[in-house]
Amino acid sequence: MIPTDSLPTDVTKGQFVDLEQVIRELSALNDLSRSNPLQARDLAAALGRMTEVVARTLKTERVSIWRYSDAHSAISCVELYELSAHRHSSGMELKVQDYPAYFKALAASEVIAADDAHQDARTCEFSKRYLRPLGITSMMDVPIYVAGMLDGVLCHEHIGAGRQWRPDEQMFAVAAANLISLVMGQWERRRAEEALRESQERFRAFMDSGLAVAFMKDEDGRMVYANQPFERCFQLTRSNWFGKTDFELWPQETAKKLRENDLSVFAGGVPVELTETVPAPDGSPHSWLVFKFPFTDVSGKRFLGGMAVDTTEHKQLEEQLRQSQKMEAVGKLAGGVAHDFNNLLTIITGYSQLLLDRIGQDSPLRGNLMEIKKAGDRASSLTQQLLAFSRRQVLKPKVLDLNTVVAGLEGMLQRLVGEDIHLVTALDPELGPVKADPGQIEQAIMNLVVNARDAMPQGGRLTVETANVGRTTADRRGESLKEPARYAMLAVSDTGCGMDAQTQARIFEPFFTTKEVGKGTGLGLSTVYGIVEQSGGHIDVASELGRGTTFKIYLPRVDDAVAERGGAKVPASQQRGTETVLIVEDEPGVRALARDTLQRRGYSVLEARHGIEALVIGDQHPGTIHLLMADVVMPQMNGREVAERLLRVRPKVKVLYVSGYTENAIVHHGVLAPGTNFLQKPFTPDDLSEKVREVLDSQAERPSMNCLGREVSG
Ligand SMILES: Nc1ncnc2c1ncn2[C@@H]1O[C@H](COP(=O)(O)OP(=O)(O)OP(=O)(O)O)[C@@H](O)[C@H]1O
Ligand SMILES: [Mg+2]
Repeated sequence: MIPTDSLPTDVTKGQFVDLEQVIRELSALNDLSRSNPLQARDLAAALGRMTEVVARTLKTERVSIWRYSDAHSAISCVELYELSAHRHSSGMELKVQDYPAYFKALAASEVIAADDAHQDARTCEFSKRYLRPLGITSMMDVPIYVAGMLDGVLCHEHIGAGRQWRPDEQMFAVAAANLISLVMGQWERRRAEEALRESQERFRAFMDSGLAVAFMKDEDGRMVYANQPFERCFQLTRSNWFGKTDFELWPQETAKKLRENDLSVFAGGVPVELTETVPAPDGSPHSWLVFKFPFTDVSGKRFLGGMAVDTTEHKQLEEQLRQSQKMEAVGKLAGGVAHDFNNLLTIITGYSQLLLDRIGQDSPLRGNLMEIKKAGDRASSLTQQLLAFSRRQVLKPKVLDLNTVVAGLEGMLQRLVGEDIHLVTALDPELGPVKADPGQIEQAIMNLVVNARDAMPQGGRLTVETANVGRTTADRRGESLKEPARYAMLAVSDTGCGMDAQTQARIFEPFFTTKEVGKGTGLGLSTVYGIVEQSGGHIDVASELGRGTTFKIYLPRVDDAVAERGGAKVPASQQRGTETVLIVEDEPGVRALARDTLQRRGYSVLEARHGIEALVIGDQHPGTIHLLMADVVMPQMNGREVAERLLRVRPKVKVLYVSGYTENAIVHHGVLAPGTNFLQKPFTPDDLSEKVREVLDSQAERPSMNCLGREVSG
């Protein structure tokens, strides 16, 4: 802005002053400032008003305001008022380099009062291209400053006979230019403020819209900024966190660790990636991936910035995956071991049974034999559990109602848990049916109940509950609230000792037990796990040390009606018969046991060591063969092929498959094809004779569904 007293003194000296005109000029300035142009909302309108007043007061034909482009390479007209036409316009542009003398003079902060614009060294550059075409004879230009910088010019252009710019007119023009400077300065400030506010708001929306938590602390560790995700995650409002240190926000241990990290970030002076544990509002520990970085603001103050994401769920999923991969590997191993043991145990228990049947009641060897048999039985049941865990067990699933299963077990469970434990059942009458093997489900419930009992040595409360649920806690991904009830849930809860996190992480591993030697084998839960997974469900555990534990089994619901509970019970053992049985089995011990067993029960037995031999016998045996008892897994030709080929020549033969292993020709994913007769290894002589009788007695007119739904006539 130009101080009016800095005008060249000679312009005020010895010149005639028209007092009336000076008064007009003063009152015009007065009017202008009273119209409060600083508050103008519309800059163009405010400038337009000012050029009008100036033009009228100085009786100047053209009054215009020009502003420099950003690089000061051009200047453009933002407002032009033509007095006689009473017209406003704008838009003309001049290149600075085309008028060097003029712009040099302007930059020197002069008032350019050119009485004869065509002759004046400062303005003659305009003569040909600008002044003449418009008929301009005199010019008076005053620079405009905004925020201390040359920003433009206020131009007065006189048309007609030449004109002398009087000192009062020059002073008036300078005052008007100063006023315009103020208006434009104010306008620029307001625009800058608005832009700043907009940018701050945009930045805030940016910081608040993501998922990442962001915060800033000063050097003393006081929070100075936090975004909305931060407030949401920790359920804090600004007044809760602003100006607070970690020690006022988090538990002391957490705060200590965070502060240590912050200090080392300040000391290191570079961004750092960290994993920090900060509890959620419910107190549960959450793991955060945090990027912390030191920075200095414009005033030189140091701050710590942080961006963080909650990786708790991610970690849990990773852990779940790791866990299930481990279980898969252990399961394969366990299944393999169990398979090999099955043959051996069949022989051990089978022969002890046969010997027991043969020796007299008072034989001195009887006790020893009983011990062998008992050990064999126990080992068989362990093997069964391993098979269940490794999901290699043969399931006979049917549609069933879990409520009925629980109700049927209730009496036994009550006896199992004893008097100090209060057993409660809460069964949802609307519970949907599931498809599972009832015997296996009973086994799973019993294992859970026994564990619950063991967890409450001083007594307590044991609840068995059923309900329809939409999703399991394992299905964390689906977030929709109204899920259809896809699962039937069975929960077993106790008020016992509970488990810490380390124990919980391992409970489903086979042979993991915290019980004293001899009290637990650690196969209970691994069996449950296997049964549930093999049935297409999930199992979940929630436990708190000292408070109790809840296991939840989720089984997928099915639409089929519940099958009636099985018909007449298969009669007790000691079944006999006279039919002819062809045994094909590659393991000599098992083959001999089966032969001995069946012969002792009156059957005629034909033996084959492999499929080819069986087919040869089938071809050459003169009499009827009533039953083919075939091991499923055999080298060269498996049991299923043997049966199929034998059935071609002897279509009336009934087939009983024997196996200790489920992933094979007749059992797929552990599920037996309907109508297939199957005996699981290891079997006892009683199991065998019972099963053989059952198959032989099964209705003859029903087409024998061979394996996998393939119908074989005859
Ligand atoms: N309801 C429960 N409350 C507390 N701890 C439990 C509960 N259920 C299981 N556990 C823990 O899980 C471990 C493994 O259980 P699991 O049933 O697999 O084996 P176990 O009971 O020790 O032996 P067993 O093979 O006889 O069942 C237990 O030793 C115990 O530490
Ligand atoms: Mg157990």
